[in-house]
Amino acid sequence: MRAVGFRANGGAEVLEELDLPEPVPGAGQVAVRVAFAGVNFAEIQQRRGELGAPDGPGGVDVPGLEVAGVVVALGAGVSGLEVGEPIAAYLPGFGGYAEVVSADTRFVRSLRTEAGVADPAEAAGLPRVYPTAFGVLKDAGRLREGEDVLIHSAAGGVGFAAAQLARELGAGRVYGTVGSAEKIPYAAELGYDEVFLRDGLAERLTEVTGGRGVDLVLDPVGGPIRDQSLAVLAPFGRVVAYGDLGRHQQWTASVWDL
Ligand SMILES: NC(=O)c1ccc[n+]([C@@H]2O[C@H](COP(=O)([O-])OP(=O)(O)OC[C@H]3O[C@@H](n4cnc5c(N)ncnc54)[C@H](OP(=O)(O)O)[C@@H]3O)[C@@H](O)[C@H]2O)c1
Repeated sequence: MRAVGFRANGGAEVLEELDLPEPVPGAGQVAVRVAFAGVNFAEIQQRRGELGAPDGPGGVDVPGLEVAGVVVALGAGVSGLEVGEPIAAYLPGFGGYAEVVSADTRFVRSLRTEAGVADPAEAAGLPRVYPTAFGVLKDAGRLREGEDVLIHSAAGGVGFAAAQLARELGAGRVYGTVGSAEKIPYAAELGYDEVFLRDGLAERLTEVTGGRGVDLVLDPVGGPIRDQSLAVLAPFGRVVAYGDLGRHQQWTASVWDL
């Protein structure tokens, strides 16, 4: 089968087309013919080497944490899924940039819904991104109804999902920040009350919240943005740190500031 992977860490140029054997599903797994693979930031980190050098079979790593497609074979002990079922799957061990993958059924969901079969192109962007967005908002962030939220990297995958889920969870005002001005009109379409540049965010947020700040900040950027995120918290507010997009070496906070 065809796949896309890399033998050395680096930029996008290290990705190459590969000819690999089709995986055989093990116990509790299904084989999936991939129609669409999501592309998310962890795969860029993997390719750049932030998760280590390639260590897959033959020294090749195949990225891909999320796929949508059709079940083509069942491993031992699998029930509740049939060959031909349209599904989406999360692949914790990567491997989704391939024509066929083996997926653990714990992380496989049917695309059949009451409204019909979900679009596999959209579904391929869900399995890792939406649970992350839900986890940072609800589990780590403990978002309560009516609370105001600030979401950094508002136009990215998790940011976009978090904006939608914050609404579903009953958030009050939902603000977003982006790194460059050209992203503002795009992000503004995604359901935020207001989107502004990360540069100068504290001043802008003070202005729009009348100095109160926000109850919850989702921060995948880190570094100085983490300091500013703490600074714009309302009393009893929370900052959820779930990434380091800025690749900062270290971040420290003084107990007094906290
Ligand atoms: N996707 C997941 O399932 C998942 C799971 C766990 C954790 N995370 C973490 O969530 C974060 C976002 O992931 P994602 O999948 O949403 O990524 P994404 O869709 O690729 O979006 C990444 C965003 O990061 C910003 N960015 C890129 N380079 C940056 C830099 N050097 N400094 C500051 N910001 C930068 C960009 O926004 P601007 O242009 O607005 O800066 C971009 O919109 C990452 O830190 C990732 O590690 C993601």
